[in-house]
Amino acid sequence: MKSSITPHKLSFLQLFQWARHPSDFLDDLTQRYGDIFAVQFPGDKPVLIISDPKGIEELLTAPLGTFSSAQGNEMFRPVMRDHSMLLLDGKPHQRQRKLTMPPFHGERMRLYGMRIYELTEQMMKSWQVGASVDLPVCMKEITLNALLDIVFGLTEGRYAEQLRQKLLALIGVVTSPLIALHLFLPALQKDWGVWSPWGRFRRLQREFDQLLYKEIAHRRASPEVERTDILSMLMAARDEVGEPMSNEELRDGLITLLTGGFDTTSTALVWTLYWIYQTPGVHQRLISEIDSVNDLLDMKAIAKLPYLSATCQEALRISPPIVLTFIRVAQAPFQIMGHELPVGSRIWGDIYSVHRRPDLYPDPDQFRPERFLERQYSPHEFLPFGGGDRLCIGYAFALYLMKLVIFTVLSRYELALKDSRPVRAIRRGPGLEPSRPVQIEIVGHHYRSSKVAVETRY
Ligand code: HEM
Repeated sequence: MKSSITPHKLSFLQLFQWARHPSDFLDDLTQRYGDIFAVQFPGDKPVLIISDPKGIEELLTAPLGTFSSAQGNEMFRPVMRDHSMLLLDGKPHQRQRKLTMPPFHGERMRLYGMRIYELTEQMMKSWQVGASVDLPVCMKEITLNALLDIVFGLTEGRYAEQLRQKLLALIGVVTSPLIALHLFLPALQKDWGVWSPWGRFRRLQREFDQLLYKEIAHRRASPEVERTDILSMLMAARDEVGEPMSNEELRDGLITLLTGGFDTTSTALVWTLYWIYQTPGVHQRLISEIDSVNDLLDMKAIAKLPYLSATCQEALRISPPIVLTFIRVAQAPFQIMGHELPVGSRIWGDIYSVHRRPDLYPDPDQFRPERFLERQYSPHEFLPFGGGDRLCIGYAFALYLMKLVIFTVLSRYELALKDSRPVRAIRRGPGLEPSRPVQIEIVGHHYRSSKVAVETRY
C-alpha cells in the first residue's frame, strides 16, 4: 500500500490561476505531480485530483454509498436549496433522479427535436448577410429558449418573458465571480439590502420563486392532460408510495435543471462553433455530410450523423464546459490507484486533464473530430458529463440540442469567425468560456437554404 499523499499548498499565483484560468492551474499541477495529487486551499480540507482513467473508473464505479456528493456540493445550497438533487445522496437522490429522468428520454426527445429546430430558425430570422453576430449571446438565447420551452412548456407570452428575464438575471448573478466568492466564504452571505450582491441575489430568488409558485398553482387548478414539459411531468409524477413532489421539491428540481443546463450547454455550443470555423477542413467535411441528408427534418437521422457527432464530442473534449466532476467525499475507507484513503477524503475527477492525455488523445491541443471516428473511448477516458450515479441527467438532451442547432445553422448560412486569433479559456462559474466575445460574420446563405425554406412550410 502506498503512503498517504502530501497535499500541495497553493501559492497566491496558483489561487489566482484557479479563480481565473483553471486549465493553466490543472496543466501546471499535472505536469508537476502526475495523474494523482492533493491540493490544499487556504482554510479548507485537502482535495485529491485524479486524471488517470483507471483511477477515474475506481472513483465512479465505487459501490453506492461509498461517496457523498451532497457533502461536496454543500456550498451550492443557497442557490440550489435543500431539495436539489445536487444536495441529496443515497435513496432520496435516486428518487429525485427517477422522477426527473423520463422527460429526458425516448419519444419526448423527438418532440424536443422539432422545437429546437423551430427555435433555431427563429433565432436566425434576424440574421443578415454581411452582418456579424455575437455567438455567446445567440447561443444563450437558443439554449434558454429551448430549456424554458422544455422545462416549463412556455416560449411566448408575457409570463414566459417575465420568467425568461428573471431567470437570465438570476443566472447572471449566480455565475458572477462576486457571488462565487460569497459561496466560497459563507461569512459574506449577508443581506444588506438590494445594493449588496447577496441582497440582490436573494431578492431575485424570491421574485423567481413567486413567479414559479404562481404557475404551479395555475397548473394544479387547471391541469392540461397533453402537456409534455418537464414541470407538468414532475407535477404528475408519484414516488413508490404514491406521493407527488411538494412545491419546494418542484422549485429546487427546476432551478437545478435550469442552472445546471444553461451555461454548460450554451458554452458547449459556442466552443463547438468556434472550433468548427477555427480549424481548417472541419467545416467543409461537415457540410458534405449535411448535404448528404435528404430529409432535413429527420431529427433522429441528423442526431446520428457520424462526423457531426464526432465534432461535438471533440469540442466537449478539448473545451469541456465543466473541468472537474463534483467532489466525492468518502463515507468509508477506500482504495484508489493503490492509495488507502480514510473516511472524509475528498476527490475530484479531473475531466480537463483526462481529455488532454497524449496517450489517449495524441496532439491533444489539436481539434481533430476524426479521433472519435477512429477510436471508441471508454466512459472513463471521455467524460464531459461526469459519470457513475451522478452522470449528468441532461447529457442526452444537451448533445441532441448541440447537434440540431449546429446542423440547422450550417445548413442555412455560410459563416466565418470575425477574428480568427486563438481564444483563451477563462472561468465562468464551474466551467470555462472564451476570454473574449466570439463574433461570427454571416458571409452568405448556404445553397441548400432555399430547399430548407421550401421543406419547412408545413
Ligand atoms: C454540454 C452540456 C453539459 C455538460 C458539459 C454537463 C456536465 C455535467 C457534469 C460534469 C456533471 C457532474 C457529474 C459528476 O460529478 O459525475 C453534471 C451533473 C448534472 N447536470 Fe449536467 N451538463 C450539461 C448539460 C446539462 C443539462 C442540459 C441539464 C438539465 C437540463 C443538466 C443537469 C445536470 C444535473 C441536474 C446534474 C446533477 C446530477 C446528479 O447529481 O445526479 N446538465 N453535468
